Amino acid sequence: MSDDLQHLKDETITAVKAAGDLAALEAVRVSALGKKGRITGRMKTLGGLEPAARKAAGQALNALKNAVAEAIEARKTELADAELGARLAGERLDVTLPARPDRLGRIHPISQTMEELVAIFGEMGFTVAEGPDIEDDYHNFTALNIPPEHPARQEHDTFYLPALLPMLAGGSRMVLRTHTSPVQIRTMKKSRPPIRIIVPGRTFRADSDATHSPMFHQVEGLVIDESSHMGHLKGTLIEFCRAFFGVEDLPVRFRPSYFPFTEPSAEVDIGCTRADGQLKIGHGDDWLEILGCGMVHPKVLVNCGIDPARYQGFAFGMGVERIAMLKYGMPDLRPFFDSDQRWLRHYGFLPLEAPSLVRGL
Ligand code: DAH
Repeated sequence: MSDDLQHLKDETITAVKAAGDLAALEAVRVSALGKKGRITGRMKTLGGLEPAARKAAGQALNALKNAVAEAIEARKTELADAELGARLAGERLDVTLPARPDRLGRIHPISQTMEELVAIFGEMGFTVAEGPDIEDDYHNFTALNIPPEHPARQEHDTFYLPALLPMLAGGSRMVLRTHTSPVQIRTMKKSRPPIRIIVPGRTFRADSDATHSPMFHQVEGLVIDESSHMGHLKGTLIEFCRAFFGVEDLPVRFRPSYFPFTEPSAEVDIGCTRADGQLKIGHGDDWLEILGCGMVHPKVLVNCGIDPARYQGFAFGMGVERIAMLKYGMPDLRPFFDSDQRWLRHYGFLPLEAPSLVRGL
């Protein structure tokens, strides 16, 4: 090989090795072997040579071209390897890290408890009904046999909405519902007996301490047909208490009480013991109040266009936070609504642990 060709070879191969990335390498290739490249240019001059000289020069040039092409390929592989190595280093996976827990969320105890109630009453043939959080005075009070000036209205610590807000026809003032009982009225007005519903929902009262929150939850129940009597009321609620608290022979007591929308009315207590400040639900020497109930007042039936001579039934209502606190041993109501992840991690439920009577609630 002539000095001249040797020089071209050294120069080109040095440039190939110096190419820092694939784009630079391609530029070197074009300048040597491209249409206007230096080696291609030399090839073009072969035609003007004597046959013998052409053969020798042709062989030399071909060898040079092959050597350069080989060097380019080798460099290309090197650069591609380096690039992959850099990416692997950058995106390094530490396979020894513990797997991220994939179930970070928890079901809030309120949702869980409502699901438990739906599971229990669903099994007894109840369906779920709902009503609006913003009610009118008529559904929240009057239709439930709580006329204006009735003392029960004061007990409810009602949030009245500004009188400027549009009132319903008839001038009924709007309120944040103080209980889920207005859904009894809505259901009886739009469907005919037999009725068997439970109503889980949000309720509101201007009251706030360790056991009261301005927003809380209730579950209401209503059964209307031609034959349901106090015996059915008792059987249903005893069965509910035992299923919910998971105590088969839980003592349940019906204590006479008063609600304007039921007659007779009762409050339901369950047996418990309170030893050393520890509450235990079950047989014991003490009682805990957990819900209100009664036979639906004939006046309420009449208000809903249902004939009390033909139909009768019972109703009940309970506070969801209260029964959740009793069942799960929560001392304070306020953290229910604090959105504190630590509390939720402690008291919350895993999404796949849906309540069911088969597996136990
Ligand atoms: N609505 C009542 C309250 O919030 C609870 C209640 C008592 C509901 C007796 C009922 C019932 O359906 O029959 O205090």
